[in-house]
Amino acid sequence: MKPFLFVGNFKANPVTREEVEQYQALLLRETGEKRWQHAEAALAPSFAHLALMESLPPSFSLAAQHGFPEKNGPYTGEVTFAMLKDLGVGYVLLGHSERREYFHETNDTVAVRVDSALKFLLRPIVCIGETKEELDAGKRNEVLAAQVRSAVQGLSKMQAEKIIFAYEPRWAIGSGMTPTSKEIQEIKDTLRSLLGETSRERIRILYGGSVKDSNLEEVCLAPGMDGVLVGKESLSPYEVVKMMERAEKYYDHKQ
Ligand code: 13P
Repeated sequence: MKPFLFVGNFKANPVTREEVEQYQALLLRETGEKRWQHAEAALAPSFAHLALMESLPPSFSLAAQHGFPEKNGPYTGEVTFAMLKDLGVGYVLLGHSERREYFHETNDTVAVRVDSALKFLLRPIVCIGETKEELDAGKRNEVLAAQVRSAVQGLSKMQAEKIIFAYEPRWAIGSGMTPTSKEIQEIKDTLRSLLGETSRERIRILYGGSVKDSNLEEVCLAPGMDGVLVGKESLSPYEVVKMMERAEKYYDHKQ
């Protein structure tokens, strides 16, 4: 059984170095260097704070929120996957809906980044999901299919299996609304059916959008998702640890 994966997306938070240092100190205190058996976490602070987050507890690793596909060169303002790898980053979020909405990312720009991130040995976490308008127009499955197909297109089976998909409906982000457990399970099945026979069980699929400790079971564990992508609640180390504990217990009972 794949371990539960908690991914924390800090977005453009917090602001000061002091807050980042405090976060780390609290996280270390709360985990007490614990190694979870069935759960692992990746935290994605802003680029400015990545290098400050070097003392994470054992089950935690670093993720980036975005990255540039070329190795290096005359690309003012960009941070490349090669630089991220060198900093000790293990995962990179790609195509987050905020990047699609505010920074013109498309399925095509995401596909180029998936390919490059894999070359630089980063695990891409490809964010997919429909807007409220697409949902209301009955286009959810069509949108998801285009996003998934574009991300895996041209990759070998081995490469494709390294991708992690995060289903994050745009309308659920920061809104307190979530799809029902049953809907999430159906979406997971739809996504799995889009993937090749053999990759189906290997590719991890996360849920994101208004996740908190009190709904973790409903939106992730019960529908059989492989983990969560969490925004606001990941800014509290206490909440992160609570969710890791809850997942660990759930997996323990299932064994
Ligand atoms: P919230 O958990 O704050 O809804 O954000 C979800 C998200 O966008 C994570 O990438």
